[in-house]
Amino acid sequence: MDPLNRVTVVAPVNIAVIKYWGKRDEKLILPINDSVSITLDTSIMRAKTTVCSQPDFSENQLWLNGIKTSFTNPRLLNCLEKIKHLAADQQSVDPAVLSWKIHICSENNFPTAAGLASSAAGYACLVIALAKHYKIKTDLSILARIGSGSACRSVFGGFVRWHAGVESDGSDSRATQIADSSHWPEMRALILVVSDNKKHTSSTIGMMNAVKTSDLIKYRAEYCVPKRTDKMCEAILKKDFVKFAELTMKDSNQLHAICLDTYPPCVYMTDVSHKVVEMVHAYNDMCGEIKVAYTFDAGPNACLYLLNADVPRVLTLIKHLFPSSSSDFVTGLGDVEETETEF
Ligand code: PMV
Repeated sequence: MDPLNRVTVVAPVNIAVIKYWGKRDEKLILPINDSVSITLDTSIMRAKTTVCSQPDFSENQLWLNGIKTSFTNPRLLNCLEKIKHLAADQQSVDPAVLSWKIHICSENNFPTAAGLASSAAGYACLVIALAKHYKIKTDLSILARIGSGSACRSVFGGFVRWHAGVESDGSDSRATQIADSSHWPEMRALILVVSDNKKHTSSTIGMMNAVKTSDLIKYRAEYCVPKRTDKMCEAILKKDFVKFAELTMKDSNQLHAICLDTYPPCVYMTDVSHKVVEMVHAYNDMCGEIKVAYTFDAGPNACLYLLNADVPRVLTLIKHLFPSSSSDFVTGLGDVEETETEF
């Protein structure tokens, strides 16, 4: 028994290959389209969260990457409130525990808010830790979604699909695992950190403006993504890398086309990002077959998906073309890790 009632959880980042972009409900975080992602190995990019409540804590407190931060974030408060409600309904802990203040300490081992899916790992971690702390049983992907949409995919390892759902209360907007982290052991992600500056437009604002002003986003959600998502799931299950990679690149390009179609435009990719795109196409052309795929979230940093056998050659090429880049790293697939400490 841990005298401090602490629970620590490590949750991995996930990088989407079919992107979530645009909400139909801002508060419940309900997306306008399904998305598909890969959950990476926790050894390289992960969030780690410890939660702890005590009868003698005088206030709720939050530390993010070692810095004491105000406990006023509405999404954080929303997650905590929902979890405590469930705990009360399920009578999962002594009612006194629910009245104790809580301390939350969370850290990432990679840049926060630089378009590297930090909120996905952060909220997945938070929700899993709180659910363990209050011993509730529920669909954790739904709870994580309320913190940050893409976080709902980080509660599962391997290949994950977030179903947009149709219900207005969000009860069917949840993630499911397509295949676990051992399904395609050769799959690797190569993260190229183009910039670790905080992004200028948050994904929340970028999406909101896109839904309001882009015509292309409606076409994407209605006509492109449904077909693409089914094809992506099939490519993953069949381990068809060429198909997987083509769909991944096309979907990333479409996301950034929508960002440009947003008024005023929202530009996340930089000249260096575009050079990475050129490099990947040139390399694939040279190989006579698609060997590498790029994908970009709401930031300039690239995630390349490739098979293990191609990693040495692609890394050599990157070092040659981007000699000053020092923070590129390769990772495989992973799962959530939980360190449970009992009351
Ligand atoms: O969950 P958010 O609000 O950080 O949005 C993430 C959006 C993208 O990373 C660009 C796409 C995705 O599906 O992860």
